[in-house]
Amino acid sequence: MVAMRWDCPSFALVFAVSFILSIAEVCNGGRTSSFVRNDQLSHDMPLDSDVFRVPPGYNAPQQVHITQGDRMGKAVIVSWVTPDEPGSNSVRYWAENSKFNNTAQAIVLTYNYFNYTSGYIHHCTIKDLEFDTKYYYEVGIGKSSRRFWFVTPPAVGPDVPYTFGLIGDLGQTHDSNSTVTHYELNPSKGQTLLFVGDLSYADAYPFHDNMRWDTWGRFIERNAAYQPWIWTAGNHEIDFVPEIGEDIPFKPYVHRYHVPFKASGSTSPFWYSIKRASAYIIVLSSYSAYGKYTPQFKWLEKEFPKVNRTETPWLIVLMHCPFYSSYVHHYMEGESMRVMYEPWFVEYKVDVVFSGHVHAYERSERISNIAYNVVNGLCTPIKDPSAPLYITIGDGGNLEGLVTEMTEPQPSYSAYREASFGHGMLEIKNRTDAYFGWHRNQDGYAVEADSLWLKNRYWSVSESEELSVASI
Ligand SMILES: [Fe+2]
Repeated sequence: MVAMRWDCPSFALVFAVSFILSIAEVCNGGRTSSFVRNDQLSHDMPLDSDVFRVPPGYNAPQQVHITQGDRMGKAVIVSWVTPDEPGSNSVRYWAENSKFNNTAQAIVLTYNYFNYTSGYIHHCTIKDLEFDTKYYYEVGIGKSSRRFWFVTPPAVGPDVPYTFGLIGDLGQTHDSNSTVTHYELNPSKGQTLLFVGDLSYADAYPFHDNMRWDTWGRFIERNAAYQPWIWTAGNHEIDFVPEIGEDIPFKPYVHRYHVPFKASGSTSPFWYSIKRASAYIIVLSSYSAYGKYTPQFKWLEKEFPKVNRTETPWLIVLMHCPFYSSYVHHYMEGESMRVMYEPWFVEYKVDVVFSGHVHAYERSERISNIAYNVVNGLCTPIKDPSAPLYITIGDGGNLEGLVTEMTEPQPSYSAYREASFGHGMLEIKNRTDAYFGWHRNQDGYAVEADSLWLKNRYWSVSESEELSVASI
């Protein structure tokens, strides 16, 4: 059975069709997909692949990517690398249909990693943009200059429709390329990508060959130069190898991927928040200290009360390591962080938590496990309409391959699980309704292997109204 998506349905129609298609799942709880796939290991694309091509021209800017540059979506950070010399620090930009050219200045960084020396890494924050406007921008000089474009989000507001893509654990294999292609050609048209950590997997190469950070930057440019990728740090960003003198964690990542952490009062690029359209997005770090009194804990403690669901109804958390995963690999790695932060997720009615790390797909029921107090024995997840939906989307396609071994029987908190590569799409419709679809790489671009209408946890918490459409 193939579940095609439909646009702008009436609620009654959605409810009726959803119920018919998914009645078995709703009644019986979790389901493990029987989909049969090629389970051979993924191989990195060779260095002479066209996706890694160096742009022509002397010192031409490469690895161009953008991310949100402020709290509300009126700024963009443009980043790029020049290989031979610093070149121009300027970004020239203009609104579509405008006669006025503007210029903003970048900072330039370099770093060394073992026997590798980076190119010149430029980061430029373009500020005071208009909402909901297409801008063109250019970087580089003369014949080596390159032009791209992006569209700013609508002004932040409670009923602003907006579509986020979800990719995690991407790497740079043939499967990674398939994932990005499927995301690009998905008819739902993602406007911003939420990336849940583990970017290049350069650390899989001898001495963490940082040249693979460069190839990854060139690979993702075709999408990340045109729409913001919202970054989350994963374990493959740590690059901590004191044996070869590399004892500064996250060194390549923090030089290459800047985020607007100061705008949300954060003191670290590993945890921060942004508002975008009708969503409030909190990014957390699974690999930074998160215990009581740590900087991340103290920031998050102040962060949740700031969320105004009348302004941004959809509260989304991104972090690399999942709280709930029923795969054998990485089982319970997120448990201590879950103990620290899950009570807040329930108290503040987080709508959905996206994670990666586990190289497969899984969607949870709305459950919580916050009653345990050492002596009461209450340590089993229970259904909880105030709890987030947990979605593991670490299936981007990196060289480590899929994880296929699952805990049996499938725990009741697990609604659907499947070890296939793919990506997700979260389509916010208004303050009460959103639609999530998971797309596997073997299918056509419009096909959803798993999908669900979400009810906002703040504005509509009736669990009975939240039904999966279909899983195939
Ligand atoms: Fe990971």
